[in-house]
Amino acid sequence: MKVIIAKDYEEMSAKAFEIMAGVVKSNPEAVLGLATGSTPIGLYKNMIADHKENGTSYKAIKTVNLDEYEGLDYSSDQSYVYFMRDNLFDHIDIDLANTNIENGKASDAEKECERYNALLETLQQDIQILGIGSNGHIAFNEPGTAFGSVTHVVQLAESTIKDNSRMFASIDEVPKRAFTMGLKNIMNAKKIVILANGANKAKAVYGLVKGEVTEQVPASILQLHPDCTVICDEAAAALIK
Ligand code: PGA
Repeated sequence: MKVIIAKDYEEMSAKAFEIMAGVVKSNPEAVLGLATGSTPIGLYKNMIADHKENGTSYKAIKTVNLDEYEGLDYSSDQSYVYFMRDNLFDHIDIDLANTNIENGKASDAEKECERYNALLETLQQDIQILGIGSNGHIAFNEPGTAFGSVTHVVQLAESTIKDNSRMFASIDEVPKRAFTMGLKNIMNAKKIVILANGANKAKAVYGLVKGEVTEQVPASILQLHPDCTVICDEAAAALIK
């Protein structure tokens, strides 16, 4: 596991972009595993600026996203499918048909998980971008999730509902359940870049980098990945220095 400590959010995002650009430029048909949340927005801004300034093309790029709230789809601006279009896809030349995310409104949740797992079998991520929850979750794999898990529906932890309530009008509006790639799907990526910024991530970053590898800290599984880079800002790195 490689650890890069950046001085701030901008530098963290720029360093993540360098790795992402390397993947996209060396393979214009790469499969990108993407994440939502506040953390990767700076990376996506760098990708958009590079596309506009240097013409880097995403025409043949495919994407798979980590997770989606149950009950939400593009008609809700809180959905992750909406987030991806708003923060990245609508600003680059990607073919939306090549972008994939769980359908939060699927009528049969189990079938939807099967569909997504089968899809992931055919779309191994050349790079997977991750954020980390303050409780050590990656995607919506909350503490206690089996390391062997694949795409499934989860009950969100109280801490996650609280963390994410800032995006909603009130905490009551945060969905209680979500679809998420499992830890096995994430570990299948050829390369992983996990980003963290802010003091509220310091404890989780400690567990990610220096803690015991345990299902109680889902991100700790990344210590076992052969090509994982952690990029965090000074505040998030406070306990690992
Ligand atoms: P954040 O979420 O980027 O909004 O902090 C990260 C996560 O919960 O994985």
